[in-house]
Amino acid sequence: MRYNIALLKGDGIGPEIVDSAVKVLEAIGNKFGHEFVFTPYLIGGIAIDTCGEPLPKETVEGCLASDSVLLGAVGGPKWDTLPGNIRPEKALLGIRAAMGLFTNLRPAKLYPALKGECPLRADIVENGFDIMIVRELTGGIYFGERGMREGKWGEEAYDTECYSRMEIERIAKVAFETARKRGKKVTSIDKANVLESSRLWRKIMHETAERYPDVEYSDMLVDNAAMQLVRNPAQFDVVVTSNMFGDILSDEASQITGSIGMLPSASLGETTRGLYEPIHGSAPDIAGQHKANPIATILSAAMMLLHSFGLAKESDAIVSAVDAVLNAGYRTADLSHGAAYLSTEEITAKILEQI
Ligand code: NAD
Ligand code: IPM
Ligand code: MN
Repeated sequence: MRYNIALLKGDGIGPEIVDSAVKVLEAIGNKFGHEFVFTPYLIGGIAIDTCGEPLPKETVEGCLASDSVLLGAVGGPKWDTLPGNIRPEKALLGIRAAMGLFTNLRPAKLYPALKGECPLRADIVENGFDIMIVRELTGGIYFGERGMREGKWGEEAYDTECYSRMEIERIAKVAFETARKRGKKVTSIDKANVLESSRLWRKIMHETAERYPDVEYSDMLVDNAAMQLVRNPAQFDVVVTSNMFGDILSDEASQITGSIGMLPSASLGETTRGLYEPIHGSAPDIAGQHKANPIATILSAAMMLLHSFGLAKESDAIVSAVDAVLNAGYRTADLSHGAAYLSTEEITAKILEQI
């Protein structure tokens, strides 16, 4: 089969990690007889520098015409002082909305080989953990009404968290369906003790839970959830939460897998076309130093094969290759605690050897 993949390399380490994932996809194509055709488009800071806007029309059209999209990361100090509507990050929200990607799957799993890299006590992670964070991606405070105004104490700025029944119902359904295919347990994270939007969220989660009697359901307040994630991560199976809580909790979950450089993600909507990206950012502090861990992006490519193309065998081949490389003791800088490590290109070569 032939698959058209739009490549959004973006800024900082974005191009380095996307290049690694492309090499891995090409190796998979050769091994299993598929053709992956890659078309690059500009997004983020590089797009601002080249064409004056973070999300050019050609990029949106190219993504919508593709079979799926692979993204590196956007942003960096160079563009940090631009107004909110032309920042690199705005492009990310724009492409997620334009593609209708309301679901963001962020799997946080402890690879057995990385137990020693997990900052939690050995007895806590003895049996590992395997969490699927289902983050709502096109609603909430990221997309609510915002602005500046004169308030009681003069100049003030505001952002609003708003969730409709429709938005909560559709992400709830994804969470319960996902749980059915794995540990049959859903924890919904909210702040229903304070926020009206969370109270609607919780009410609809409860309604949905009644339709899935085979799935164990509970809710948890977000402050407690942040604590429980490091106290006992193995208690979680599927975690469903709002856009902003999901953003924050997934970075926390990533670190207990060893490094943020390990966590992939899949952003999905109603069609098979998705957007796949590591959960981390453009890491400007290490860009160009050959130190970036490409595994989160490589595993994102594996998620693309599975979720967009239905290529389970091919997807597993990538995951097994990563597993084998980690089991053999190879580490990138983020996982090496100052000991010897492989460069982005070297670890990619090790993964390619396994495919
Ligand atoms: P970050 O995730 O880029 O980096 C946080 C820390 O993790 C840094 O020390 C970085 O070196 C390290 N790190 C991240 N990915 C790594 C990898 N693959 N290998 C090794 N180390 C890695 O977060 P930040 O520093 O808060 O943000 C930097 C920029 O990225 C900002 O402009 C931010 O808006 C943007 N950002 C973009 C995305 C995205 O494009 N999806 C996500 C998060 C942040
Ligand atoms: C992420 C990022 C983005 C988000 C930013 C860069 C807009 O942090 O994908 O996790 O908050 O969704
Ligand atoms: Mn984030």
